[in-house]
Amino acid sequence: MLSMLCWLLPRIDTMIGDHLTKIRCDVLVVGSGIAGTYAATVAAEAGADVLLLTKTRLMSGSTQWAQGGIAFPLDNGDIQLHLHDTLVAGRGLTDSKTAESLISESFVHLERLEEKGVVFDSKLGLEGGHSKARIKHVGGDRTGYFVLDVLQKTMPERILCYENTVAYELLLHDGAVVGARGFNADFPRQQIEIVAGATILATGGSGQLFKVTTNPKESTGDGFLLAYRAGAELRDIELIQFHPTALHDGTLISEACRGEGAKLVDGNGHPFMSEYDRDEELAPRDVVSRAISDQLRKNNGAFLDLTPIANFSEKFPYIAHKLKTLGLDQHYDRVPIAPAAHYFMGGISSSAFGATSLRGLYCAGEVASTTFHGANRLASNSLLEGLVMGYRAAISALNFPADKLPIHPKSDVGTPSPPTLADVDTIKDIAHKYLNSTRDSEGLLETLQLLSDTDLNTLDITKTVHETTNLSELARLVAKGALEREESRGGHYRRDFPNPSPVPYHVVQSLGKDPGKKEISV
Ligand code: FAD
Ligand code: SIN
Repeated sequence: MLSMLCWLLPRIDTMIGDHLTKIRCDVLVVGSGIAGTYAATVAAEAGADVLLLTKTRLMSGSTQWAQGGIAFPLDNGDIQLHLHDTLVAGRGLTDSKTAESLISESFVHLERLEEKGVVFDSKLGLEGGHSKARIKHVGGDRTGYFVLDVLQKTMPERILCYENTVAYELLLHDGAVVGARGFNADFPRQQIEIVAGATILATGGSGQLFKVTTNPKESTGDGFLLAYRAGAELRDIELIQFHPTALHDGTLISEACRGEGAKLVDGNGHPFMSEYDRDEELAPRDVVSRAISDQLRKNNGAFLDLTPIANFSEKFPYIAHKLKTLGLDQHYDRVPIAPAAHYFMGGISSSAFGATSLRGLYCAGEVASTTFHGANRLASNSLLEGLVMGYRAAISALNFPADKLPIHPKSDVGTPSPPTLADVDTIKDIAHKYLNSTRDSEGLLETLQLLSDTDLNTLDITKTVHETTNLSELARLVAKGALEREESRGGHYRRDFPNPSPVPYHVVQSLGKDPGKKEISV
């Protein structure tokens, strides 16, 4: 399994200079959510020397906040139904072969989690778009935290972890990615250069592009831009999922609450979902989000009535605690909710085995577009994908026949021109106005007009500059992708193109090229 990698590279080798630490390793993993932590574990268990780099603490990213759980098929007999639900939610952009293989392989990783010590709750959960209760939880609504905690506590000791370290550019050699550069989040002049046989990006999504998001602060789309600037292809980056039920500050009220009977009601307490879909509260997310937005637009109000759920605080301890902290625990019948930016379906174009369009670069988790989620991710399918693809990206990375690595790799990526950068609040305002779930060409062109092209100034970089540049550039990529997608599908609704196109297609973008459509042959 380890191919020739270990023969070509010295063991992890660290040189600490005044301002620059140089490291060589077999596999560099950027990001310590479920995908990155699992990828690092798999690679290290196979004998590779692994460096795991993360922007804040090890326990970080969206994974730690995942409430709903992990969707695993119940047994072999449920694989086809789980696949069916995934395809229906994906609205024609999910590749059924990829999806079937991911769903089928998930059993192996479920067993591995249990072997490592994850203890799943006995009751299975139901969420929107699932025909059956098949979602596994840990600790009620704290699945992500507990799963990641076990994975991190059982990581092989040979993994070298660098916390508080921001990867800001990929290193290239003869067109292949051979590692990355990073800096200390607090002392940006403290730089790190990692030369690696293979590099795996697992940097998560970018809810922070929007004013209201369920995502943590670190979700600023860094991986999309690291890959894009190095020349990798992005796919369907305009496809963003807005979770229907978040509080005004972005706190998520899990879809599992609707699975347990919570109702969506207007200001008069009347349930309204039957007007929009026969599956009512458990319709796929794009449908429920648009129904809520419609109610809000008509000034009817939109609330979640949690009173049908018996023993709420036992079943959802984290949400109950949050509602109390926000003073909302006295009104369980009228919890005010609205859609919030939640998940990027698109991302770095990835094969079903984590390979990107660049040699030596792999990806896994939310940063990757594997075509599993299509135009609208099925609830709780993301942690499943993070596990399976974390594993597959690690195996692909281990099998990558790295050339002899350069002593002085180049980065052809950053440019030293000072960026003319909008501040982060302006970027969020623009995204909120023009890139939310309802779009039109006027707003998308306005986005491109308002946010000029920025270059990453790698000479004077800080965490804020890096993240703000990424968000600004990502807003432009989303706008360009959304302009190219002249249709409405899943999470993407164009007022000026309200129907899906007869032939589904992906939208791809790469540096220096106009966005293009790639039709999907059925
Ligand atoms: P993340 O967990 O987001 O981790 C990204 C990592 O990359 C972090 O460690 C971050 O610090 C690091 N990083 C980012 N940029 C850099 C950089 N430049 N340098 C170094 N490190 C960097 N999905 C489900 O399937 N079930 C659920 O119940 C569920 N609930 C959710 C609830 C909430 C509130 C949210 C926000 C999401 C939820 N999702 C759920 C989605 C799911 O949690 C995420 O899609 C998934 O956890 C992403 O995992 P990941 O490993 O790809 O990225
Ligand atoms: C939720 O608990 O509603 C979120 C689940 C998910 O995003 O998959």
